[in-house]
Amino acid sequence: MEAVSYTAQWTAAARALETERGDLAIFEDRFAPALAAPRGFELLEKNRGSGLIPFIAIRTRYLDDSIREILAENDIRQIVFVAAGMDTRPFRLEWPGDATVYEVDFPALLAEKRRRLTELGAQPKVTRNEVAVDLRGDWLPELKGAGFAPGRPTLWIVEGLMFFLTPEQATNLLGVLGSASAPGSWLGVDFVSRALLRSPFSREFRRNLEEDGTPWLFGTDEPEEYLASVGWKARDVKEPGEPTTAHEDWPFEVQPRDRKGPSRSWLVRAEFVGG
Ligand SMILES: C[S@@+](CC[C@H](N)C(=O)[O-])C[C@H]1O[C@@H](n2cnc3c(N)ncnc32)[C@H](O)[C@@H]1O
Repeated sequence: MEAVSYTAQWTAAARALETERGDLAIFEDRFAPALAAPRGFELLEKNRGSGLIPFIAIRTRYLDDSIREILAENDIRQIVFVAAGMDTRPFRLEWPGDATVYEVDFPALLAEKRRRLTELGAQPKVTRNEVAVDLRGDWLPELKGAGFAPGRPTLWIVEGLMFFLTPEQATNLLGVLGSASAPGSWLGVDFVSRALLRSPFSREFRRNLEEDGTPWLFGTDEPEEYLASVGWKARDVKEPGEPTTAHEDWPFEVQPRDRKGPSRSWLVRAEFVGG
């Protein structure tokens, strides 16, 4: 697998730990332990203290809720997980009967995920199609080949990917999503702030990422403006630790929005407006 694909085991390991909290857990992912091996728990241990475990739990729940609410409020029946990794939402969430989910990621990652889920006897709760591609190339033809219809509104979920892209790749990716988005399409995405790419607070974490060949390259301090520049209107922007993303283990104070420069992460729902 590509180096960056091991980060999918890492997020699966965080989801496994959250699931272990039982009644306190903010979601349940019973497939996560099997998908996290072999490197997920090792990567979590290496980066313990960076707030990443509660962050991944909060992000997972935020996007679970976003998917439920956006599908309930809009006539959207195709959902694309861009860089799906070891995410198991097609297997653990409830979906409209006529929905189709596309999981896009590198071929090796998707093959390994399929092998493990088959071993577990996991059954998807929705029509699920894999799209094995490199997102840095021209991947829309493969998505369309798998049945995706650009004329219909789409919910795109881009979780845990944007910071691994260069600024140019990030903007290009959101442009590609826009080019395949009919009116009424939505996006769920997370970003880090620029400070997280350079602050002393995250130095050791960044060094670890670089050592593993998966540096963080892209961040934004103004997610609303950034998204607007690529055709998306932010409808909800949250930071972990805000009341609606509450998690008893969130270790940091939420900084006032008008304070420039702190390390932040953004959880965002946006609507396609084009332009
Ligand atoms: C941190 S994981 C996130 C996975 C999943 N969305 C989650 O939140 O658990 C990053 C994912 O991005 C995928 N990825 C990164 N760059 C990619 C690329 N150029 N093409 C396809 N997949 C890519 C990796 O394979 C990996 O599965």
